Amino acid sequence: MDRESFPMTERYYITTPIYYPNGEPHLGHVYTTICADVAARWHRLLGKDVYFLTGTDEHGIKMVKTADEQKTTPVDLATKNSNVFRETFREFGITNNDFIRTSEERHKTNVQEIVRRMLATGDIYKGEYEGWYDEGQEEFIAENAAKEAEYKSVISGRPLVRYKESTYFFKLTKYVDQVYRAVESDQIEIRPHSRKNEILSKLKGYDQDLSISRSSLKWGIPLPNDPEHVLYVWIDALSNYVTALNWPAGDGELYKKYWPANAHLIGKEILWFHAFYWPAMLLALGQPLPKKLYAHGWWTSEGKKMSKTLGNFVDLSKLRELVVKYGHDPLRYYLLRAAPFGNDLDFNASELNTAYAELGNVLGNLLNRNLNMIKKYRGTVPALGQAGPEDAAVEQAIAELPAKLKSAYEDFRLQDCVLLPIEVARAANTYIDQTRPFTLAKDPAQSARLDTVLNMIARATQAALVGLLPVLPEKAKAGLAQLNLTTDGKTFDELLEPIEGGHQLGEASILFAKLE
Ligand code: MSP
Repeated sequence: MDRESFPMTERYYITTPIYYPNGEPHLGHVYTTICADVAARWHRLLGKDVYFLTGTDEHGIKMVKTADEQKTTPVDLATKNSNVFRETFREFGITNNDFIRTSEERHKTNVQEIVRRMLATGDIYKGEYEGWYDEGQEEFIAENAAKEAEYKSVISGRPLVRYKESTYFFKLTKYVDQVYRAVESDQIEIRPHSRKNEILSKLKGYDQDLSISRSSLKWGIPLPNDPEHVLYVWIDALSNYVTALNWPAGDGELYKKYWPANAHLIGKEILWFHAFYWPAMLLALGQPLPKKLYAHGWWTSEGKKMSKTLGNFVDLSKLRELVVKYGHDPLRYYLLRAAPFGNDLDFNASELNTAYAELGNVLGNLLNRNLNMIKKYRGTVPALGQAGPEDAAVEQAIAELPAKLKSAYEDFRLQDCVLLPIEVARAANTYIDQTRPFTLAKDPAQSARLDTVLNMIARATQAALVGLLPVLPEKAKAGLAQLNLTTDGKTFDELLEPIEGGHQLGEASILFAKLE
């Protein structure tokens, strides 16, 4: 067959931030990665060729300090924790295609080439810097901002430190206007919308170049022209999104295929770097800009900032406990459902219980009623029979789900992505209560009506489960198997092909068992 006649598969490149491996992953890291995983699975379900990248950001003072405290070396600390991140993501069923470590050779050679190119164009130049420095964020803070924050970090509350040294600068100021226009015109879309203005007003009047190297630090990537200086965090870290595609020093095959990124998913505290530094770097390099930046909110726990001393810290062992109790899929469901995307979120044991119960009561229950009634009254799924006044609401819910879900994923309204299919299941449960199939079954004159009701319920269950596949990969698949529908290799639209009359059902089993 003529391969050329097939349309090119659409590509979708999504990334998470690369995480600092100065400790083990906790709720915040796992949440970001799960959100990206849900999106990656969704776009695969649409039939796209998806590339999903995550990894660890290993250089900088924070790593050196933690290594000192733990009487180890930065490289050993990074390797130890980076492996835990990688393994945790595997354990949690994350479908990333690659995992980049900034200490890897592939990253180093590509970053050095990026620096070489920016030196050649004059976008990187040598100077001297003295200023206030936030060691936690690894960022120089402008005098007025430092003063406003009473010379303390706005993130950690720790005192800012005075630094002076010879350093290389990136000419950020040259790109302020261009980045402003790119953000304003939605060439780079920022979601949620509210954060766009925040960035625009911060860009207005921005007038400092960015210090990008340190001569006092050894743990980092040496500048190719001046190895006494190592590259300082943000240029190094942000570059991962292209160095993982082996650009610009490598063959660039992956880069040609996947760049520009469709979406960088990040926490709200690093939006500024992604909305300004990163586009400015790409402009300096003459490369296309990423299409979307999705910034999510921050987790607190039981109403308070997560902290080890308060004992409310949701660390890796706590996450594992939750998985044992609820399973991976219900945990994903809860995390995405917890707040509208972009808002801060509060981790709360009682809401997790409620979310789990909701899955059982709404989705599990529907599937169960469905299988029991169809098997009992008809044996196989009946074809549509006689229409009735109750049908419109469910029919509409099923018909509208694909478009609504597509738009929710486009804007990364992840809470809606979770709730929209659940609403279909809810509508089907209401429909059962209204049409009372168990009563219809007793009256032979209502046989054609019962056919329609059973058919409709089967299709609503199918739609809800298909819609939840990215969120509940195992449970939705198992639920669809009970409907005798296989998912492997099928796209969203194919999976939504309505079940036909005469369709056999699979074995029933409880998807969300009641908790002890
Ligand atoms: N290394 C930088 C990012 C470089 S990206 C080129 C970094 N790393 S980090 O490990 O500190 O955090 C990265 C991300 O973890 C945050 O952007 C956020 O997505 C997630 N979270 C860490 N703690 C969090 C919460 N308490 N709540 C929600 N997410 C948070 O910044």
